[in-house]
Amino acid sequence: MEKINEQTENKEKYSLDWFRERAFSSLKKVSEGVFDYSDSLLLYIPRSDEEYEKIQHEGNPYHEMITAPERKYLLQIMKDVVARLPENFEYLDLGPGSEHKEQYVFDQILEQGKKCVYRPVDISEKFLNKAAERAEKQGIPVEPVRASFEELPNVLQKSNIPRFVSLGLTYSNYDPQEILKLLADIAGSNGYVFIEAQIRERIDIKRLVEIYAKDSLSVTTAKLKLLGLDAEVDVEDLHANEDIQMWCTLKKVTPRLTEVGLKAGDKILLFQSLRPSIDKLKRDLDEAGFSDYTMLDVGESFVGVLLERPLQKEDEEK
Ligand SMILES: C[S@@+](CC[C@H](N)C(=O)[O-])C[C@H]1O[C@@H](n2cnc3c(N)ncnc32)[C@H](O)[C@@H]1O
Repeated sequence: MEKINEQTENKEKYSLDWFRERAFSSLKKVSEGVFDYSDSLLLYIPRSDEEYEKIQHEGNPYHEMITAPERKYLLQIMKDVVARLPENFEYLDLGPGSEHKEQYVFDQILEQGKKCVYRPVDISEKFLNKAAERAEKQGIPVEPVRASFEELPNVLQKSNIPRFVSLGLTYSNYDPQEILKLLADIAGSNGYVFIEAQIRERIDIKRLVEIYAKDSLSVTTAKLKLLGLDAEVDVEDLHANEDIQMWCTLKKVTPRLTEVGLKAGDKILLFQSLRPSIDKLKRDLDEAGFSDYTMLDVGESFVGVLLERPLQKEDEEK
């Protein structure tokens, strides 16, 4: 396995300065006094990826309400997902994280006698190495990619085998239209895309708001620091709403934030983990122009969607 050290020449690329620049350039004015700072990548700067790992631990309410039922669901549907994939494919695992859910795919590839080249993609070097080493130990060909998802259409070479692009529940961290377009671009006209959503009408949404609200400070402290803000002093009213969006109100403005157009009292969207209704999920797929997909609904709170050939040939050439 080519170790991540080949990326050293990119070190400055994913240095703290790089994250800081990404932070300021990702700030988007939504309307007067409201800014979108929900870029999910900025939650996983070196060492803050540990915060994410902690909330997944058994016994943590996040684990009880999200990680454990999601695992049970993936175990139920992965046979069906892999059965719909070609004999040999490129498995592009967007953000493997710490929970090794890719193992459900590996187990089915083995069971169904199929083959893949495993390409984990993550901004976190720690999570990337963990995923790559684990696959390598199982004799699976591995080609790790340290990059942002958004860079992939420019970073990845054309693949001579179909691409299976799996984003899973990280789909919930993005605006649906934005991420569905990016995933289609990455998968191409002969590829496949897998996303997941936890369906709002099938869970206790008030309980989920409490869980995210409890972790809001620990999850967003490092992200606010990238903007030169102290989460305990420079912002107020940090809260999660019923859309599972985390917001705060700006108290202190730095000269650089003023340059970007922010002022005290402005509302900032810090993070989102959206829980669509089943109708909204279908509407988002429809609006994105997808018709060729399989909804893997087994009545659980999670519903996965496998998109097939998401990109029109003529769009691919552009
Ligand atoms: C919410 S975790 C999900 C991890 C895993 N897929 C799961 O379902 O448990 C998101 C993962 O994606 C990575 N990530 C998030 N946004 C990213 C981006 N824009 N580019 C690259 N990596 C990103 C994080 O480092 C983390 O490993």
